[in-house]
Amino acid sequence: MNTLKVCILAGDGVGPEITAEAVKVLKSVCNAKNYELQLTEGLIGGCAVDAEGIPLSPATVEKCRAAGAVLLGAVGGPQYDSLPSNLRPEAGLLAIRTKLGLFANLRPTKVFPILKEVSPLKNKIIENGMDILVVRELTGGIYFGEKGVTEIDGEPSAYDVMMYSEYEVERIAKVAFEAACKRRHKVTCVDKANVLESSKLWRRVVDRVAADYPNVELCYMYVDNAAMQLMRNPSQFDVLLTENMFGDILSDEASMLAGSIGILPSASTGHGTLGLYEPIHGSAPDIAGKGIANPLATILSVAMMLRYSFHLENEALSIEQAVEDSLFFGRTPDLADTAYPAKTTAEIGSFIAERVAEIL
Ligand code: NAI
Ligand code: MG
Repeated sequence: MNTLKVCILAGDGVGPEITAEAVKVLKSVCNAKNYELQLTEGLIGGCAVDAEGIPLSPATVEKCRAAGAVLLGAVGGPQYDSLPSNLRPEAGLLAIRTKLGLFANLRPTKVFPILKEVSPLKNKIIENGMDILVVRELTGGIYFGEKGVTEIDGEPSAYDVMMYSEYEVERIAKVAFEAACKRRHKVTCVDKANVLESSKLWRRVVDRVAADYPNVELCYMYVDNAAMQLMRNPSQFDVLLTENMFGDILSDEASMLAGSIGILPSASTGHGTLGLYEPIHGSAPDIAGKGIANPLATILSVAMMLRYSFHLENEALSIEQAVEDSLFFGRTPDLADTAYPAKTTAEIGSFIAERVAEIL
């Protein structure tokens, strides 16, 4: 019998609401297929700061390591804004990625046909379809570089260093090319090689990796142009390979093509099978506790978990199908459309849990 060990890190804000729905769906899949599901729970982010004084304790890291996969909600909230950087909830998020060696962040962005009306972009821009995979480097670059405050000529100043080693670039580039081989065979490497030394290093290494993938087309694009091209003609992209910060920004931008930030999942992986799965959005404190957060990004993250960590492709597809069906059943306000009934977070989650059992 298949045993799925999953550690749930619900986190802050809407985190507990959306992970609860994702767990409903996961339980439904396991019930339908007679898989054993072993769930553990851990603290991360603001709730960990409140309970333990730090955003990520060694106990939480151990729970994650003992699992086959981790499902994370989101962390953060305005009440933590005055904390020093190393005690902020987001520090817990950066730390868990490094501690688990999760250097590759995969963020697929697709337009569900029925949501074409919801995308703020005119239909003609997304009518050719859009199916992009952002492959974002996750444990290097400016978020992890040396940072500090100083004085320059008596003027209060601050700095953040963007640093990459060839090794870091090589391993993420391989992930992008491997992914492209299973998709439409195109990698667009996004950088700022006209001004950044680190981007020049990226290009040297990516060129080298590309030589092993002669059937994958490689092109480079400056990040400012890429931001514009995503709005102008998103169907030109297949795999977007980026350093950490550029990928963070471009994937939020790409989410709007899909209709809402509330529907985009992500997977963070490393060299092993342990993966961390989470929506790309944050803790959405403005809507927390109201029962209106969109659970689809987290539920689709469960699909990615079943696909990548547990190699259950059929089950992953069934969740993706049930999510698409839910768009006809009803929607949270971020996807509001008068043609479809308004539903709560929990109503959508329950619908998908039931639907997935029918499909399986
Ligand atoms: P956010 O992604 O939490 O929210 C941005 C906007 O999108 C808000 O209007 C929010 O209501 C909406 N939104 C987000 N998720 C939604 C969902 N599932 N359904 C419907 N609407 C949704 O980003 P924001 O406001 O910049 O950050 C809030 C907090 O989250 C901050 O403390 C930030 O540091 C943290 N954060 C955490 C992340 C994580 O845990 N991975 C990622 C990004 C931000
Ligand atoms: Mg982000």
